[in-house]
Amino acid sequence: MSSNKKLFIQTLGCQMNDTDSQHIQAELEKHKGYVATQNIEDADLIIINTCSVREKPVQKLFSEIGQFNKKKKEGAKIGVCGCTASHLGQDIIKRAPYVDFVVGARNISKIKDVVDVKGAVEVSIDNDESTYEFSTAKTNKYRASVNISVGCDKKCSYCIVPSTRGEEISIPPEMIVEQVRKSVEQGAVEVMLLGQNVNSYGRRFSDKREKYTFTKLLQDVSKIDGLERIRFTSPHPLHMDDEFIEEFAKNPKISKCIHMPLQSGSTSVLKTMKRGYSKEWFLNRANKMRELVPNLRITTDIIVAFPGETQEDFLDTLDVVEQVKFDQIFNFKYSPRPGTEALNLKDKELPDEIGSQRLIDLIELHKRYLEESMPKLIGETLNILVESLKPNGEVSGYTDNYLQVFAKGSDELLGKFVNVKITDVTRTSLKGEVVN
Ligand code: 5AD
Ligand code: SF4
Repeated sequence: MSSNKKLFIQTLGCQMNDTDSQHIQAELEKHKGYVATQNIEDADLIIINTCSVREKPVQKLFSEIGQFNKKKKEGAKIGVCGCTASHLGQDIIKRAPYVDFVVGARNISKIKDVVDVKGAVEVSIDNDESTYEFSTAKTNKYRASVNISVGCDKKCSYCIVPSTRGEEISIPPEMIVEQVRKSVEQGAVEVMLLGQNVNSYGRRFSDKREKYTFTKLLQDVSKIDGLERIRFTSPHPLHMDDEFIEEFAKNPKISKCIHMPLQSGSTSVLKTMKRGYSKEWFLNRANKMRELVPNLRITTDIIVAFPGETQEDFLDTLDVVEQVKFDQIFNFKYSPRPGTEALNLKDKELPDEIGSQRLIDLIELHKRYLEESMPKLIGETLNILVESLKPNGEVSGYTDNYLQVFAKGSDELLGKFVNVKITDVTRTSLKGEVVN
């Protein structure tokens, strides 16, 4: 195809949306002759890949499509994809008639069929195996992101994802292994395995299969020659069984940074959230991980001001934060979402000021911890995989436990593991000198 139509994609939300955007781009390049552009005014097609986990991005979507409509060149099309597309569907076109088509998070592989159909709306959440197709586009030469499942079977009471991404289906392991192998052939040394709930992998395939677990998948993926580092997100604390933790600890290819989404430290809030674990279970799992894995970094998600959360409940959250010593926290104020069970708790919703204050308290506590812990790394020599070169002549890469490190360097270092002696720290990253 000789056309050089240009495609601009804006991606909001989680890492699964990033891979969905890569998939959209690859499909439109392959089948429709588009090439990507970073310049919206040049684009013949503008796609917004949305997130609806909290309300703010949804509001932002409509103001943004309005902006895009003003900026776009004459005749350019606008498409809305992702979770907000799934949950609002046709209403998006009703509210913003200049939107040409809407494609839900579970229907990305239909993009090539709807892109030329004015008014098309594809938002079914039924299983469709074409969603397994992997994209070949990559945002980073050394890191491949590979989906291992679609959808989510949990029913966390605050979460809209099960209704936008549908029921959980595991992608067959042989397809995943093959995709990782292919990525390695093309230069990737690291893989990020993605799913809403990765460690319930194997619960349901679209065909009948023998028992197969996430731990087994980690073992099979790690057998791939040339693959150096395996990461995954998000695991669910409930499914962190001993077998999984032991594999995590002893498998040298698995990056020693884990995301353990706490959501709340209060057992009673966790119960209304339908998370399936207690404060004690979470602490037990985190402690076991810390015991078995030296230098482990743990990141987490926390929601404050869930309906009915008392100050005492919140103090339980702070207590877990102090005990576990999370290395990074993604904090959110509870946001009521359509179709979720937590909407039944409307009369227990808290005033916005309480949520804001709790966020401040949590951020402050964590800031104090990082200010104390990060400077301890000054003087240490850390091994990093160099993955990018910035215009200012600094390279950047990540340690095995996924700390970002910057150092003066050149493109010769790209894709290599190098030692860096740390000279300077911020709360979230490190600076140093290459010492190999
Ligand atoms: N309100 C606030 N935060 C939410 N999250 C999911 N749903 C909501 C909601 N309704 C957060 C959770 C999840 C992260 C991706 O987004 O912490 O882990
Ligand atoms: Fe949402 Fe819970 Fe599924 Fe995560 S595990 S996507 S929070 S329902």
